[in-house]
Amino acid sequence: MHLSQNQGDAEVGSLAVAWLELTVRWIHVIAGVAWIGTSFYFNWLNDRLTTPTDAPEGVTGELWSVHGGGFYRVMKFGVAPDRMPEELHWFKWEAYLTALSGLALLVLVYYLGADVYMVVPGGLSPGAAIGVGVATLIGGWFVYDALCRSPLGRRTPALATVGFLLATLIAWGLVQFIGSRAAYIHMGAMLGTIMALNVFRVIIPAQREMVADLVAGREPDGAVGEHAALRSLHNNYMTLPVLFIMVSIHYAMTYGHRYNWAILAALALIGAGTRHYFNLRNRGRHNAWILPGAALAMVALAFVSSGLSRPRLADREGGEIVSFEAVRAVIVGRCAVCHSEQPSHALFDAPPAGVMFDTPELIRAYADRIYATAVESTVMPLGNFTGMTDDERALIAAWIRQGAEIE
Ligand code: HEC
Repeated sequence: MHLSQNQGDAEVGSLAVAWLELTVRWIHVIAGVAWIGTSFYFNWLNDRLTTPTDAPEGVTGELWSVHGGGFYRVMKFGVAPDRMPEELHWFKWEAYLTALSGLALLVLVYYLGADVYMVVPGGLSPGAAIGVGVATLIGGWFVYDALCRSPLGRRTPALATVGFLLATLIAWGLVQFIGSRAAYIHMGAMLGTIMALNVFRVIIPAQREMVADLVAGREPDGAVGEHAALRSLHNNYMTLPVLFIMVSIHYAMTYGHRYNWAILAALALIGAGTRHYFNLRNRGRHNAWILPGAALAMVALAFVSSGLSRPRLADREGGEIVSFEAVRAVIVGRCAVCHSEQPSHALFDAPPAGVMFDTPELIRAYADRIYATAVESTVMPLGNFTGMTDDERALIAAWIRQGAEIE
């Protein structure tokens, strides 16, 4: 096909954006692994400390370990050592880099592609949807921080309950106003922002204060460290739900479900519960029922959610055999702008998720996924960009139920 100069430029542009996106995503995952790795390690360490033998004054716990062919002995001071060590390592760039690269990805994927990713058919304009998303990220932090500083902040179980209910309410609100996949990613980004700001605004400043006291020869205030430790614990409980959200956006059965906000809530509970099990276990308390409980809850969720999925589209009258030609016309009309070897949609220069419908064989091969994304849920076409009707969905449903023949 002959490309005009403009189309050629647009293609180079979107290819550059795709590479930029891939690079930023790579950085995001690496930084995230480093951040969560240190978070898991230090929480584990704290819970496993034993009473030290022949340790310097002020040491309240120690831990021996072996890793990578060497023995390690780590000591923890109750408050702080009596003088500054020559070299002190901080852990903050992992957190900042994860948050910054995540926000960059949000802009690159969701905000630059707002007309397909952010909107619901007949809903807010792309600009307004972005506004709702940004407000969620900023508002989430201020509400969380205010709750932590209120009397509720010292009562962790009560705070967790209120936080969970509020987050569920926000998720429910978001899916009313913006695309469901964007709603999920904004919930993840909101929690991730809270975690990064916990590091930036509370944990690191508290550590700076303690170090300044040490340098000035004052006794550091233990309460400052305790508050920081509490925020660190909050972060620890948020990790599994956040990771779930980041992965779930590749599974239409979660974000594309009729009760997507409830699925998110259930999975957040399962994630935090699993984290709780490991935290308890590290402290030597075995609540053996939690882990199988979480696994069972996962199975139950799969059953309940598939039972409650989209009401079956009305069966087509008379049960007449649907012709593949009619189905192909719908797929070409509604899906091919994005899902073909050379998509004509400006956002894509390769078929998204590798899915393309250029030949009858390909359409047949993808029948199950077409059913899941365009019949059982309505996540495709993305943002119903191409205006697919329920009749067309029913036509595809009937074709697939009749065996997805292409003859
Ligand atoms: C506006 C562009 C656009 C249109 C139109 C579109 N899609 Fe997609 N589709 C996407 C994008 C982007 C993804 C990748 C989502 C991801 O990264 O998980 C995708 C992913 C998919 C997937 C793979 C994900 C999965 O859960 O299996 C299937 C299947 C799919 N689309 C089917 C369809 C069908 C069927 C239609 C037409 C009824 C359609 N799409 C129309 C953009 C589009």
